[in-house]
Amino acid sequence: MVNIQKSFALQEHAKQRIPGLSQLLSKRPDMFSYGVWPGYFKKAKGVYIWDLDGNKYIDMSIGGIGANVLGYADPDVNEAVIDAIQNGCSSSLNSPEEVELADLMCELHPWAEKVRFGRTGGESMAIAVRIARAATGKDKIAFCGYHGWQDWYLAANLGTENALGEHLLPGLSPAGVPKGLADTAFPFRYNNLEELKAIISKHGKGLAAIVMEPIRDAKPTSEFIEGVRHLANESGAILIIDEISAGLRMNTGGSHLLLGIQPDIAVFSKALGNGHPIAAIIGKAEIMETAQKSFISSTYWTERVGFVAALATLRKHKSLNTGDHLMKIGSKIQKGWRECAKKHDLKVQVGGIPPLSHFSFEEESSATIKAFFIQEMLHEGFLASSSFYSMLTHQNTHVDSYLKSCEKIFAKISILKEQGTLSKALLGKPAVSGFKRLT
Ligand SMILES: Cc1ncc(COP(=O)(O)O)c(C=O)c1O
Repeated sequence: MVNIQKSFALQEHAKQRIPGLSQLLSKRPDMFSYGVWPGYFKKAKGVYIWDLDGNKYIDMSIGGIGANVLGYADPDVNEAVIDAIQNGCSSSLNSPEEVELADLMCELHPWAEKVRFGRTGGESMAIAVRIARAATGKDKIAFCGYHGWQDWYLAANLGTENALGEHLLPGLSPAGVPKGLADTAFPFRYNNLEELKAIISKHGKGLAAIVMEPIRDAKPTSEFIEGVRHLANESGAILIIDEISAGLRMNTGGSHLLLGIQPDIAVFSKALGNGHPIAAIIGKAEIMETAQKSFISSTYWTERVGFVAALATLRKHKSLNTGDHLMKIGSKIQKGWRECAKKHDLKVQVGGIPPLSHFSFEEESSATIKAFFIQEMLHEGFLASSSFYSMLTHQNTHVDSYLKSCEKIFAKISILKEQGTLSKALLGKPAVSGFKRLT
């Protein structure tokens, strides 16, 4: 077993001090395998992560949950950030890079004319929804996909068992969301125009926005894309495209540009700052101007590091054709998973656009198998789980050695499964899925 004594001690301490241990569900060690997942890092550079006990891993997992598209501590982004820090990253005046970034975002997305900035994804989706409500004077939202932790979104689960269960994360509790928001957010499934039509026919008159991710797993059908746009026009709802995860994966900018989706507003975060907090809400002039009608304002939305990090990230991303690289690496991983599973007779479901790939063991006790895979891959020197987010620093050599280890572990899983001894071989806890209280 990999020695994670220091990391584990800190996890146990954090559990007492920080409700839920982490600020982000996806970085909670129990989502991997509590007891073996290192949880904390001391240093990250390129594709490498060092944990508190000095173990060095190649990160073939979630790439900072999609934030670090260029790899960790990218030298060009670091240089820009260090320069900003040396010159002061906050003062009584605004930083000019804010305007430069707004211009660059509009240059990359010629349909967009105005830009506001936030820092995180969920927060910026709430800004976009507020703008849409202010612009239309209406309250209701039709949405598909995951869009963060804010009230407008969790309201969908008020008074229902699990309306959000089909939208990436099951079990999201709306405890603390005002009950008055019940009946304001209505989910439809991706590529399912009929469900959206049903929402519109019931709530169309009161609809402020249709909110969706451009892509996550399946490609959108042209009927769906055209239908959504048509329904938005017909009902007067604003079409908000959430590029927080999909943006900067397949191209430099929003994936809606490749998919032929025509948004009114698009929202970016995660990869935009390559690990530095920054988010952009871009949109058509007339709609974005209504941001002035509502009070949308925050001190740290003006902080300099986010802007310079985003400028450096976008420029490097474009000059190195990063989207192509992420696609190639991710496709190779998906092919490798399928081949390993076939070879060792394991039922595995592979999905996601290649830069945001994931797989699941479609077997009994899949949570135990996942945890065993994680445990053994750590031993092989990889941070790995059931998702793989590609980074610019991932090279074919990393993929080859990772897949070689995957093959070895899949073979072990197959044998232990046959013998019925898999759970005995588990050193930590089975992986938790969805949102649950940490105990
Ligand atoms: C599509 C999408 N929207 C919104 C969010 C929320 O972003 P954040 O975690 O920065 O609040 C995420 C995060 O995973 C996401 O994938």
